[in-house]
Amino acid sequence: MSVDDQPSNPTDNRPFVDVLGTAISRRNVMKGGAAAAATLFIAPHVANADYSGDDYDENWNRIPGSRNSRVRFEPTPNPGGPDPMISPDYEYTSIIPWGTPLFPGVPEIDPTDVASNGSANQEQQVGIGHDGIWFFPDVEDTDGDGNDDWKHNWDRRDWDYDDPSNTNGVLCLNHEFGFTSHVLGKPAPENLEDVRTMQAAHGVTCVEIAKGEDGWKEVVPSSRNRRITPNTPVEFTGPAAGSPLLETPSGSEPAGTLNNCGSGYTPWGTYLTCEENFNGYYGYTDEAYEVTPEQERYGFTAGGFGYGWYQFDERWDISNPNSKNDENRFGWIVEIDPNDPGAKPKKRTALGRVKHEGCAIAIGRRGRVVAYMGDDQRFDYIYKFVSAGHWQTMLAEGKSPLDEGTLYVARFDDDFTGEWLELSPNNPVLADWTLDECLVYTRLAADAVGATPMDRPEWTTIGRRQEVYCTLTNNSRRTEADAANPQAPNLNGHIIRWRDTKRHTGTDFRWDIYVLSDDTLPENGGDESYSFASPDGLWADPTGRLFIGTDGRQPFGNNQLVVADTRRDEFRRLFAGVDGDEITGTTVTPDRRTMFINMQHPGNGDPTRTNFPVPGAGGPEVPRDSTIVITRKNGGTVGS
Ligand code: FEO
Ligand code: CA
Ligand code: CA
Repeated sequence: MSVDDQPSNPTDNRPFVDVLGTAISRRNVMKGGAAAAATLFIAPHVANADYSGDDYDENWNRIPGSRNSRVRFEPTPNPGGPDPMISPDYEYTSIIPWGTPLFPGVPEIDPTDVASNGSANQEQQVGIGHDGIWFFPDVEDTDGDGNDDWKHNWDRRDWDYDDPSNTNGVLCLNHEFGFTSHVLGKPAPENLEDVRTMQAAHGVTCVEIAKGEDGWKEVVPSSRNRRITPNTPVEFTGPAAGSPLLETPSGSEPAGTLNNCGSGYTPWGTYLTCEENFNGYYGYTDEAYEVTPEQERYGFTAGGFGYGWYQFDERWDISNPNSKNDENRFGWIVEIDPNDPGAKPKKRTALGRVKHEGCAIAIGRRGRVVAYMGDDQRFDYIYKFVSAGHWQTMLAEGKSPLDEGTLYVARFDDDFTGEWLELSPNNPVLADWTLDECLVYTRLAADAVGATPMDRPEWTTIGRRQEVYCTLTNNSRRTEADAANPQAPNLNGHIIRWRDTKRHTGTDFRWDIYVLSDDTLPENGGDESYSFASPDGLWADPTGRLFIGTDGRQPFGNNQLVVADTRRDEFRRLFAGVDGDEITGTTVTPDRRTMFINMQHPGNGDPTRTNFPVPGAGGPEVPRDSTIVITRKNGGTVGS
């Protein structure tokens, strides 16, 4: 989302190092998309690193070998305009647009008259602002071991076949936001019913989908279809559950999830939804109210982003004494079981409270669960969580691996090493803090320990050799470059990567800039067939492909999905979106022959720009956020 790009980090955590020379010397290294990006990179060796069988040595130098390209499709042009384009080797359809009924008897939204929809319908329809997404295939216990759960081989980062379905399952997807003018057909809510409709368009959808003769479609009725909105009862778990910081004077029950941006998925088959720009929905009616330093650090203001909910629903009024602390109930990683629609979503406080963009899970040494997370704001930070024990042991003991462990924030040093700084009272800098203060006011704890301010950390993902990638989408306000954010201003963003010692569980790491967006431009030796800017959505498949979704002004045409072969630094444009849109989450069927991505805010809601999924522009249909289904015409895996 680009609505809230204002920096709210007042600290001076900006270790200046003069590495511009390094950054410049590393430009122009992708000529033709085939040269090695990191060959000029020199950094000292770090002990304990395990690079056996890797594609890179310990200094991120590529290990040469005769490898075939994994991105051999013909790239699509990106001319811009109201309709998507895809590689000639591929085809796409769109499914579950905003306003699709999830339950019998519910009408579909009328895209020529959205004002007639209303909250009662919207609460039972697919929401708007399609973003993070994951597909949970149906599975069968074909090997007879009694375990018919969804399984995933976390070493290979691929499915561990227990006969998972490639044609049926539950799709969980986030509804980050919708403009009021898009959802209601008017610029601002005029009453509580309008606010309820807006709220119902936000949150999460779980929907069963199946592939039939006419392609993929939602299944209605299905016992697993579900809407979760800002008003759905939720449960806090982990160290800050029960904290006074999460209780309101009125004793209200915790409710809802909001501004659900990136996503993740766990080895035990659950969905992780990430709450990002929650601050923008709050405001205050008491003109004498003064925001607290904690509220200021999270960006709360008198009017928020202009949603106006606080004018009709007092919960969203931070000057209302009855609902004090309600705003602390957002900014979490929230776990949802796609196969248990009656269970409350669980807010996992051990993972901290920031503007969470995504949550990439790895399995670290001795089976510990590791979660990597970006906090998307200019000059904010990258975090990781490491579970206290082996995830299977913890589950067997009735504990969630996401409830006990250690939260860290990253410091990127100018010698291309880095350190994970613990965010708990165990850290001497935070000795005066309580653990629940560290977890509820995570940004302030991270300020105190000296984390490195980054250029808007968006999605994270785990590569085929356990390296971690993170998109840094852009930062027009940066005035001082540093090693990890080497451009000032950083108008087009970059992708950073790192690898921790001790297989994700160590406190030091080695990092590298995987690609500067500017290096994909033709004037810098790149090529129009893959030039991109403002990388945002990110997912690595198990074979070394990196799928990059963009959100921002592109060098050519509309926002897009670009595929990289990380073993060869080769890039190709697979899909180009529509005018005004953003390309968000990525997921696949277990055979990876069907990919689902999301198209968010097509036309920014303006039908004169696009009527998507109706072709063209200028018609009466308001454009609708949708999930795009991508397949290769020859039946191959997506990205090949
Ligand atoms: Fe929701 Fe940072 O994009
Ligand atoms: Ca089995
Ligand atoms: Ca994003």
